[in-house]
Amino acid sequence: MLSVAALSLRLGVSGCQGSKRSIATVISGSKTSKVVRDRLRAEVERMRSQVFGFRPSLVVLQVGDRDDSNLYISTKLKAAAEIGIDAKLTRLPNTATQDEVLQSVMAVNEDPSVHGLIVQLPLDSVNHIVTEQITNAISPEKDVDGLSFINAGKLSRGDLKDCFIPCTPNGCMELIRQTGVTVAGKHAVVIGRSKIVGAPMHDLLLWNHATVTTCHSKTPDLPQQVGRADILVVGAGRAEMVRGEWVKEGAVVIDCGINHVSDETKASGKRVVGDVHYSSANQRAGFITPVPGGVGPMTVAMLMENTVQSAQRFLLKMAARWNQ
Ligand code: GUN
Repeated sequence: MLSVAALSLRLGVSGCQGSKRSIATVISGSKTSKVVRDRLRAEVERMRSQVFGFRPSLVVLQVGDRDDSNLYISTKLKAAAEIGIDAKLTRLPNTATQDEVLQSVMAVNEDPSVHGLIVQLPLDSVNHIVTEQITNAISPEKDVDGLSFINAGKLSRGDLKDCFIPCTPNGCMELIRQTGVTVAGKHAVVIGRSKIVGAPMHDLLLWNHATVTTCHSKTPDLPQQVGRADILVVGAGRAEMVRGEWVKEGAVVIDCGINHVSDETKASGKRVVGDVHYSSANQRAGFITPVPGGVGPMTVAMLMENTVQSAQRFLLKMAARWNQ
């Protein structure tokens, strides 16, 4: 049997857990995501040996040429290549219209060789495009970002086994699991209600049986709400907004923020920080994710997980047809 310390090391959780602990245990998304990616690589290898030449396939559709999107996409393509997923980027110019983007989505929907499709957000077009019209046009069976009405509706009703769960919240849940802290019966607080992070995070915690409070820009008493959280997930998009003094002693703190702030001590003149003020929060939290190296790598790993899952469902459907 593994000791708790050995198990924690294997799972990417490190830090001092003695009774005199004053600094939070760090939950490493970099380490945990590697465990997930290694498992997926083995799984893809197994699929290839069972069905000759078969590879899960993912299309990333990008509109425009934002620097941040380019970086995120290249990370996704690299992770896919390492796992053995056949991932392609389709890029439309920033002059693309909504109809043109919809046509690209439909073409991928109809291509049986593609198992997963994500439309990188935000859409960078000079034309007005309603993002929801695009994400809702993605076939629910290929919607590995989990952003279509169908998948979001299933998640909100607790049909977790029958939908694709958005990658960032799914990665956050995986990191919370790594701590060994039981979610059921806890008070969880989510800051932010975006369709990609906050809203699905709320649903996921709720259906894992936490009591959930979701806070947003109109919540009047944010520090008090944060102070009640056994589990705190922050996806607010505001640099270091959550102060350590607000955090409940021993809480699990998951920071989804990626913000660039100026820092003259760096050659680049800037550095990346989360939505949580890390150096004060880690004095009070029991567990905390770093930025970078926390939630970010897990988002990518969960996209790979959803793509492999989609390919597995495809193979099962094909096998069922053959056996009819
Ligand atoms: N932009 C930033 N994060 C994401 C993500 O997880 N999915 C998509 N589609 N776009 C994003």
